[in-house]
Amino acid sequence: MNTPSFDFGMIGLGVMGRNLLLNMADHGYAVIGFDKDLAKGTALESAASPGTAVKAVSTLAEMVQQLKTPRKLMMLVPAGPIVDSVISDLLPLLEKGDIVIDGGNSHYKDTLLRINFLEDKNIHFMSMGISGGEHGARTGPSIMPGGDQLAWQQLKPILEAVSAKVNDTPCVAYMGKAAAGHYVKMVHNGIEYAIMQLISEVYDILKRQVGLTNDELHSLFKKWNEGEMQSYLIEITRDIFLKEDELSKNRLVDMILDKAGSKGTGKWTSQDAMDLPVPIPTIDIAVAMRDLSVFKDERVAAAALYKPRIKTVGPHKEKFIHQLHDGLYFATIICYAQGLALLHNASPALQMDIPLPDVVRIWRGGCIIRSSLLELFMTAFKKDKQLANILLNKKLSSRIKKKQAAIRKVVQQGSSARIPVAGLMSALAYFDAYCTERMPVNLVQAQRDCFGAHTYQRVDREGSFHTEWE
Ligand code: 6PG
Repeated sequence: MNTPSFDFGMIGLGVMGRNLLLNMADHGYAVIGFDKDLAKGTALESAASPGTAVKAVSTLAEMVQQLKTPRKLMMLVPAGPIVDSVISDLLPLLEKGDIVIDGGNSHYKDTLLRINFLEDKNIHFMSMGISGGEHGARTGPSIMPGGDQLAWQQLKPILEAVSAKVNDTPCVAYMGKAAAGHYVKMVHNGIEYAIMQLISEVYDILKRQVGLTNDELHSLFKKWNEGEMQSYLIEITRDIFLKEDELSKNRLVDMILDKAGSKGTGKWTSQDAMDLPVPIPTIDIAVAMRDLSVFKDERVAAAALYKPRIKTVGPHKEKFIHQLHDGLYFATIICYAQGLALLHNASPALQMDIPLPDVVRIWRGGCIIRSSLLELFMTAFKKDKQLANILLNKKLSSRIKKKQAAIRKVVQQGSSARIPVAGLMSALAYFDAYCTERMPVNLVQAQRDCFGAHTYQRVDREGSFHTEWE
């Protein structure tokens, strides 16, 4: 009989599960892992740092037996039916009070169903977003737990130990009730999609319109990353430009096919935002552009038919590059604004009580969308915990105003040169619409009432009105 001497169990020893477990072991926790693929268990044990307590087992039962009670277990398995099948395998092995965490990118609606299912089974269930990729999992991710409060209290020390730190503060906090952990992670990924889209558009302009080489792109992104636009995504982009291809003499980035993949979290963000409804057009566009990229054959045919000629930039290259910097800075703020506004509205609608000040605080380190901008957002939410949209913060507005002219120039130049800049355009259009006191939807309402008797409200009196238009 195995004695229960382990602090934490992991089900699923892919790179994320393995690295997070090794991270826990490095912080003094005795950890045990299980994966159906036994080779992954062997890989876990051989990667353990000397002197740490790391064990792999070949059955779930062996793992459960060796965990101290109340047991703390995390699933890091692909989202979807596998999560349900692991839960049903686990249930007969668990006891009252045990904690089960879903640390994968599950859809929050699936999580809500699971919470319901487990409610009367005396198991504490937590939804938990983890961001930072494989490197982050090993060295300190940003962790977004939500749901069961009691489980959170018990897990707090271990999660604080393994998470990323910014000025010694752990990048983990309770994200709210029910499926809040997965909801916040989903929106994190939506913002991630949008910022990646913006960076790729700016790259396209710099490469095809301005004519920069990969080395020049590297130097430029290096410079940008040293200034106000410092971020993880800019940092990795800087290094991507230098990576040599092992199969050809070219840079790897030039040998990668222009068809983007996705696992769905960006799409879920857009779908959910539309259901609420909350506008997040730059995230929507980022999803659409990944989708459009997949229609490669059609794009090639259309290019032959319409022959877009790229107009290169003339003598004002330096000035334009500066405008690109400011335009990207502006549009990146808009991506966060849309994602955070979504959280602000989803929180009461889904009864999750998501603490926005904590969200921006824990996104400052470890996660994919970490950037120096998060410090500014943190200050904004310190001033007003219920801030509906960061664009309404006075301090931020003065920065945004300074970058406005640049984004307009970039969008003009990009579109007149026939470079697709849908993300940058959508960010600017969102901003312009958000700042419009009287939108032209009075006409839309008139049309709706004209053809469908849908009624309208008036500017001068309360109530609902219908007119016989013809
Ligand atoms: C993270 C990442 C991570 C993963 C995404 C990528 O925060 O660490 O977001 O969750 O890389 O799932 O998603 P796509 O495959 O959809 O781009």
